[in-house]
Order: sequence, then C-alpha cells, then structure tokens
Amino acid sequence: MDRFKIHGGRRLQGTVEISGAKNAALPAMAATLLTAEPVRLLNIPHVRDIITMAKLLAHMRCKVQSPDIPPSEFTIQAENVSHAEAPYELVKTMRASVLTLGPLVARFGYARVSLPGGCSIGARPIDLHIQALEKLGATTTVEHGYVEARAKRLRGATFRFPKITVTGTENILTAAVLAEGETVLENSALEPEVVDLAELLIKMGAKIEGAGTSTIRVQGVEKLHGATHTVIPDRIEAGTFLVAGAITGGEPLLTNCEPKHLAIIITKLEECGVDIRCEGPSALRVRAAKKLVAADVSTEEYPGFATDMQAQFMALATQAQGVSHIRETIFENRYLHASEMVRMGANITIDGNLAIVTGPSPLSGAPVTASDLRASAGLVLAALVADNTTWIDRVYHIDRGYEQIELKLSQVGASIERVRQAG
Ligand code: UD1
Repeated sequence: MDRFKIHGGRRLQGTVEISGAKNAALPAMAATLLTAEPVRLLNIPHVRDIITMAKLLAHMRCKVQSPDIPPSEFTIQAENVSHAEAPYELVKTMRASVLTLGPLVARFGYARVSLPGGCSIGARPIDLHIQALEKLGATTTVEHGYVEARAKRLRGATFRFPKITVTGTENILTAAVLAEGETVLENSALEPEVVDLAELLIKMGAKIEGAGTSTIRVQGVEKLHGATHTVIPDRIEAGTFLVAGAITGGEPLLTNCEPKHLAIIITKLEECGVDIRCEGPSALRVRAAKKLVAADVSTEEYPGFATDMQAQFMALATQAQGVSHIRETIFENRYLHASEMVRMGANITIDGNLAIVTGPSPLSGAPVTASDLRASAGLVLAALVADNTTWIDRVYHIDRGYEQIELKLSQVGASIERVRQAG
C-alpha cells in the first residue's frame, strides 16, 4: 500500500492543470452502453475509478480501449454486450458502477448489478434508483446482494425523487432516453455533471430538455448513435487546489477549470479573505489572505456547497482566525478526517452533523490514515501547512479520484512524495 510523505510549510506557486471530472466521466462511460456505435470521450482523468469503470465495461464485453490504462481520449463501443452484470468485486470498490443499471435495462431489457452497500461515509442506499426504474415499468428483485431489473421496453412516466440524488438522476436519465414515450423527472439533481451527461446523450440522439433544472423532460427514442464528447473539468479537484493555494499562502494558477461551477466555493474562500480572480475564461488565480478568517459552511446539493469539498474546507478552517461552523447535511458519517486533523493539533469538536473548528491552530506532522477519497484530500491539505513530516496511509483512496495529486502538487512547490510499500 502506498503512503504519502509530506513536509509542510511550502508556499504553492506556478500552474496546475485541472483534469476532467471523474463524476462526469463515469456516467458518460456508462452511457456508452446505450448504443452499438463507438462513443469517443475526451478529457478523461486517469484515476482509479475510471479504470474500474473501464474494467466493468470490458467485463460486459464492450470494446474498451486499454482498460488498464485508460487514455485521456477514450473510445468505447458496446456493440455486443453479452454480460449485463456488474459483479460485487467491482461494485464494492466503486459504487458508481450502479450507473450501468439504467442503460443496461433500457437497451437490453435486463441488468444485474450488485448492491453497493454502505461505505465509510455512511449508508448509501440505491432505493430511489430502483423505485424510479419500477415507475418506468421495470420489474426488479433484490436477492443475494444483487438487484435484477427486467423490462421488455421501459415506458415513460413521471417520477418525483423524494430526495435529490446525483447518480439516481443520472441512472434514470440514461434509462429514460430509450423508453417509450415521455418521462418527467422531478426534483432532479442540478449538478453540472448531470448537465454534462445530458449533453452527451443529446449528441447521441436523445431528446432531453431541462437538464440543470429540477424538472427534466425526456422524449424516448428507439435508438441512439455514436458521438464525441469532452467531459467538463473537475470542480472538486479545482476546489481542492484553490484551498491548497489559500492554505499555504501561495499564488497558484489553475488552468482548464470552469469558474462558474465553482461559484459557491469561491464565495466561501472569499469570505475567508482569499482573493480569487479569473485570468481568462478557464483559469483562476488564488492569492492567499494575509490572515485567513473563519467562515461557516453547510453542505448542500448543487448549487450549494459540495459535500465533496467539506474535508478540504475543514483543513482551511483550522488555519483561520475564529470559529467556523461546518454542517454536513448530505452524508451521515463524513467527519472521519476530523479526528486525524485533531491528532495533528487542530481544535475541532463534533456535535452530531456539526463540526466546530476553532483556529488558527499550528498543525504538526503526524502519521495519519485516509478513510475516504475526499477525507484524504483534506489530510493532504492539512499536511501542507503542518510542521515537519506527515505520513498519510491508505492513499489508494485519493487515487480513486485525483489524477497524480503528488505530481501536480510538487510541480507547484509542495514537498510530497509517494512511498511504495511492498505487499
Ligand atoms: C454523488 C457523487 C459523490 C457526491 C454525492 C453528493 C458521483 C459518482 N458521486 O454520489 O461524489 O458526494 O453525489 O453530492 O457522482 N440516497 C438515498 N437513496 C438513493 C440514493 C441516494 O437515500 O437511492 C441518499 C444518500 O444516502 C445521500 C443523499 O441521498 O444521503 C445524496 O446521495 P447521492 O446524491 O445519491 O450521492 P451519489 O450519487 O451516490
């Protein structure tokens, strides 16, 4: 298992290129199951979850260009899918495998997908995905840890998500495009990744209106065709590097990002005293504050503050003057990084879903353990300002969603090294 060795205290300076969004690339890859023709995807990040999805599609017998090392331009052709199943071994490492359920049942009338189960950030059911598919006429059974869905052809229907779900919206959108008649999805997720998926589907011949609003209307079509699509930049990776600049007192320039997807993150960082400016349409310059000040954050669905940025914001709050209240409203157990930050010297108390961070606290390097993808990013950020050396264990979590974070950080002046351990 690899570890990161980080020496804190370096200001970040220079240019970081932001990769394509993992959470947009994954549904786009699943959507390739909807057509027999090749789909070419550009700006694909080279991260572990993408490899897992590529392997899953290859397991289903799709033609996948080098699944072990997916290039940033990637062609997938789901001409003959003889195996409409997402097995437990793959789903357990990446719950987004469930995104294959909708497209498989829509095109082939059958899908068998392992239930993802919980993960370190709490219970993460897919009951709403299943309810919505049933509303579209699928018969589903949940047995032996798998959900099976069948339908001769899905029928359009109106479904109101009782709770906003990002992959739920994406899964049902990719099912509805081949259903007979009109589907109306109410209380849909507004995330940019949903809009990006809709844009790909429209290029493939789907008829979709309203993506990016809470009501999405889909007129089902008989067949979709191949397309070429560039996925959007990763707003969470960009947000993480904005915090990296702010926390180290540096001035890095982020290129290939989409500032409008970062609006609330920028607003919150500005509240902390950080100066962020656009330098052209897709570049952002961070200028750290002389003195960071505390700010409150509550995680919400887009356009609110992303839960995927909560751990990184907490790292920043440890260095800000005053008391920051951070409320996690999306996941039940997403504060595992807090106790590790406390071990580094942070002053954080947790009360239910509220974290109270009092700063600034000098952090000192310590051995810490990453518990999930974004928690690891929070720990890396804390380590960048910690005294001495921090060792972060289980960095495979960070490899799921950040492309070569150690390389990108060292290019802008951080002292971070991947130490490979045998076994
Ligand atoms: C997606 C993102 C993840 C992000 C999350 C919230 C991907 C691949 N992952 O995850 O990075 O943290 O959105 O922005 O895009 N829920 C149910 N039943 C369901 C589905 C969801 O109760 O059937 C609940 C979840 O437990 C959670 C909330 O709804 O409390 C939101 O989850 P959801 O938006 O579905 O997260 P994901 O799509 O899994």
